Amino acid sequence: MVQTESQPLGFIGVGGLAGVLVEGFRRAGDRRPILLSPRNADQSRRLAERVGCAALATNQAVVDGSAIVLMTTPPAATLAAIRGLAWRKGQLLICAAMDVTVPLLAAAAAPAVAVRIMPSASAAVNADALPLCPPNAAARMLLAQLGTVFELSDEGGFAAATALAAYHLWLYALMDTMVAASEAAGLPREAAVGLVASQTRAAATLALSAPPQAPVRAPLDLHGKPGSMTAQGLAVLDAADAFAPWRAAAAAAVQRARHGGAAPPAGLTAAGDPAK
Ligand SMILES: NC(=O)c1ccc[n+]([C@@H]2O[C@H](COP(=O)([O-])OP(=O)(O)OC[C@H]3O[C@@H](n4cnc5c(N)ncnc54)[C@H](OP(=O)(O)O)[C@@H]3O)[C@@H](O)[C@H]2O)c1
Repeated sequence: MVQTESQPLGFIGVGGLAGVLVEGFRRAGDRRPILLSPRNADQSRRLAERVGCAALATNQAVVDGSAIVLMTTPPAATLAAIRGLAWRKGQLLICAAMDVTVPLLAAAAAPAVAVRIMPSASAAVNADALPLCPPNAAARMLLAQLGTVFELSDEGGFAAATALAAYHLWLYALMDTMVAASEAAGLPREAAVGLVASQTRAAATLALSAPPQAPVRAPLDLHGKPGSMTAQGLAVLDAADAFAPWRAAAAAAVQRARHGGAAPPAGLTAAGDPAK
């Protein structure tokens, strides 16, 4: 196993995601040295100053100085960047990019061990739901600081889990809709945002407390009795077949996540970043 708890952590690709992850590690109290790649020097320097990291002169210096390296480069640049670096045995590469596979990563980073993750913005506040493929104890221990880690042994499952990173972001649009409706009905903005976000968290907390075999919609069916306010609103959603577009969106996201490094589907450019 890679011994990592106090050894430096490296980041190659210092953009939005690296900032989120570094923020989450520091917020969790992780004080190990963090080494940043130099490209986008301003951003690296700002992040280094803000949360106490070191911006190094080359990507290779980051690899040489780190026990674990997080690849947070754009999908199209990731494999070439990894192949251009010398890796060593006992090192762990954790890749957040879409459009790669574990075998491609392993071949590019040999003799290092390679795993994939799909983090979300909530890692910054240590509330992420983080798929990791394949299972890896050192990666799990590190990433558990950012939220709940879900270890998956096959990339089919990982693609389905990756699509849920899009679901995470769609939820903001749903919450925004409910905030606007609540404000329009007379609720002050602060209360509307607080209540909508808290109700969303409350539903998630109750769902997580139930056995996974139970129907996730059980509280709705139990409490949304015929004639109730809940049932009346649900009838409006059902009449519009409101969940069908969610199923279609989920299928589109899974298809995109399964797509790997081959030619992108119509409407997506190779340089486009599907994780955004
Ligand atoms: N943002 C998210 O919430 C999120 C969530 C899950 C997964 N991801 C994945 O994480 C990766 C990074 O996402 P991001 O949003 O942070 O992207 P980003 O903001 O574009 O940051 C990527 C950074 O990597 C740099 N870079 C490109 N090639 C490089 C190389 N060879 N060596 C070192 N740095 C290099 C880019 O520099 P230039 O701008 O100069 O090219 C940029 O600063 C993507 O693969 C994305 O799919 C992102």
